[in-house]
Amino acid sequence: MRPLATTTLPKILCVVGARPNFVKIAPILAALRGAGRIRTHLCHTGQHYDSELNDSFFTDLDIPRPETRLDVGSGSHAVQTAEIMKRFEPVLDAERPAAVLVVGDVNSTLAAALVSAKKEVPVVHVEAGLRSYDRSMPEEINRVLTDRISDLLFATEPAAIGNLAREGIPQDRVRLVGNVMIDAMHRQLTASTPPARVLARHGGMPRNGYAVLTLHRPSNVDDPAVLAALLDAVREIGRELPVVFPIHPRTRARIESSGLESRLSLPEILVLPPVGYLDMLGLVREARLVLTDSGGLQEETTALGVPCLTLRDNTERPVTIDEGTSTLVGNRPSSIAVAFDNFRRTGGKRGRVPALWDGHAAERIAVELDAWLRGGSAIPR
Ligand code: UD1
Repeated sequence: MRPLATTTLPKILCVVGARPNFVKIAPILAALRGAGRIRTHLCHTGQHYDSELNDSFFTDLDIPRPETRLDVGSGSHAVQTAEIMKRFEPVLDAERPAAVLVVGDVNSTLAAALVSAKKEVPVVHVEAGLRSYDRSMPEEINRVLTDRISDLLFATEPAAIGNLAREGIPQDRVRLVGNVMIDAMHRQLTASTPPARVLARHGGMPRNGYAVLTLHRPSNVDDPAVLAALLDAVREIGRELPVVFPIHPRTRARIESSGLESRLSLPEILVLPPVGYLDMLGLVREARLVLTDSGGLQEETTALGVPCLTLRDNTERPVTIDEGTSTLVGNRPSSIAVAFDNFRRTGGKRGRVPALWDGHAAERIAVELDAWLRGGSAIPR
């Protein structure tokens, strides 16, 4: 794309709030700024604020310093969403962007989209159309509502296009561009930290490999009985394959408030504080197995070819099951044990990398966004 004179460039206001947003915005900002045809303004809502969930991601992913910070912090869904809306409105008024770009499905995504749509500022949603069809997930509500009020929707996989069509979203608003989370992974893979270095600080590298565990979904961590059973299942796995467990602050708080700390003080489970992006990428790429309830990790393991047991009953990312390395296992110990036994016998599920998960999704977004802002469309539909 040919760069334009800065004064004539349309401005896109990009909004991030929580850890997975940071990973997604990094390649998008790089592509938009690299093409030189769109100005960007980055607004950080402050939904995530701890250094391990926040600053380290900006450093690891080379994300420019946000021009605006809303510093909302934690709260109930209502409080957090409302606080973001209140604080975002004056930013939108002051910046007067051509469009607001939101990513993913966190509370910051919906809050910024809602303010923008009500002010008739066009909304662009990256990672549109994913559906778990499980309304007990807060993210599902965020996804459905954000897509409903978006003007331009970028999808990662074909199933998302079908979901949007069934909801009556006009197809001329939707573009299949691939997965920006995988762009970020490709950009940072060579810089990822060797696992021995990450683990040296936490008990050393297990001799015959390790599994990585992450847990943070309310459905897995909020009910003490569910959480205790999950940790017991993990301990059984740890007897054969040591489990590296970087703990999300939400999960640590639940473990402490439920008095479950003793479930973790075992040699077969290596408990880590939340790790930065490069440390996590290093851990995952060398892992023999990943157990997770994270959407991003389902995608990254598929792209890296690492077997993944997804500790949920459903997923909004079916391509990671149909084509990738993920198996839906749920959170019952008996199902986890069966899945682990299968992994042990077969070496784990193999898969292929889905179409357009090639490291160039953000570049396609930049091309398409530029054409859309100028009234055309670059990608044939
Ligand atoms: C949020 C997203 C979720 C995403 C996850 C990634 C929503 C509804 N959920 O969940 O989709 O997968 O981020 O991490 O937006 N906390 C800290 N430090 C922080 C931030 C949070 O200690 O910097 C603790 C607080 O106790 C807080 C709790 O984590 O109450 C939950 O944080 P919140 O941002 O509401 O949701 P997450 O569980 O992180």
